[in-house]
Order: sequence, then C-alpha cells, then structure tokens
Amino acid sequence: EAFLPVAFIIGYLLGSIPFGLVLTKLAGTQDLRSVGSGNIGATNVLRTGRKGLAAATLLLDALKGTAAVVIAGYIAGPNAAMVAGLGAFLGHLFPAWLKFKGGKGVAVYIGILLGLFWPGAVVFCLLWLATAFTTRYSSLSALVASFVTPLFLWWFGHPALASLFAVLTLLLFYMHRENIKRLQSGKESRIGQKS
Ligand code: G3P
Repeated sequence: EAFLPVAFIIGYLLGSIPFGLVLTKLAGTQDLRSVGSGNIGATNVLRTGRKGLAAATLLLDALKGTAAVVIAGYIAGPNAAMVAGLGAFLGHLFPAWLKFKGGKGVAVYIGILLGLFWPGAVVFCLLWLATAFTTRYSSLSALVASFVTPLFLWWFGHPALASLFAVLTLLLFYMHRENIKRLQSGKESRIGQKS
C-alpha cells in the first residue's frame, strides 16, 4: 500500500518521456508541433514522411507504458501495476516538461494493456487495424478499439482492469475531441495523406 504513490510517480516519469519529440529532434526534422495535427504521437510523426521514426515512436511510447506496469508489478504486485499504468497514461497526456501538453495516449494505452493483460492488447491492435484498413483514420481506429477494450476486459472476468481502462478510454476520447469534430465534419486527415 505504501508503495502505491511511488508506483504512480514511476509511471508518471516514464509516461512523460515524449519519444515522438525526442526522436524527431534527434533526427532533425521540423518541430512536430508545427506539423499536421501538432500532436507528438506516432501518427503525426508519420506526417513528417519518416516511417521508421513513426514506428519507433509507436514502439517506444507503448513500451514505456509496459515498462511502468511491469516494474511496479514486480516490486509490489497487481495493484501497484495498475496505479503505475494510470501514472504512465497521465504522464504521457500531461507531461510537466511540456507545460502539461502531451499526447493523446493511444500507443501508451496499448503498452499498459500489454503489461497488464496481453490478450487485451492483441484485441486492441486487431480492432485498430480492421478500422484503419477500412477507413484509413488513425483517430477513429483508436476510438473504436479503446471503446471496446473495457467491455472486453469486463466480459473476460477482469472487472478491476475494466474499470481502469474505462477511465483511460474516457481520457483518450477527451484528448481526441478535436479529431472527433474533424471526423464529424469530414475534415479528418487519413493515413497516408499529408495534412
Ligand atoms: O495517436 C493519436 C491519433 O489517434 C490521432 O493523431 O495526429 O491524427 O491527431 P493525430
């Protein structure tokens, strides 16, 4: 119990590493925040035309969530793992180093899910891919997959995880509020489109 605040802080610190910004800075591309949606995630890195950097951003933003959960879980068990997951998600969305203006949470959501219940991450990715192949909207794919995830967790007998991911899904939808408006007005950019 005493470890829970520590687990949260470990999660927050890992989650707040903005790999999209770090990698694009190292590679010397334009400032991500002046490209496309202005977001710091893998989808927007892809809009710089650097596919490898986008894949690395996706992977590292996901794995920081997995690392937070696995480290805290190893030290102090499943409750600490969930708290670290929440910390990592909030760290990615609201990083102190970027004046609390972070990303939208899709990659880190997958990574946290991978660390807590890997079949959930498989289901998420399959739903994301199915939606992306049919619509070519990255944001819509994340909205669909994250909507289903808490229901899936609940259905498969993990009520505590279902509650945690219901909270993460609500936050993810909130972070996608501009995307949702663009989807409604038909102005959302599709994968492979420049802006
Ligand atoms: O990963 C975030 C994605 O769902 C939307 O990103 O850059 O299109 O707002 P973006």
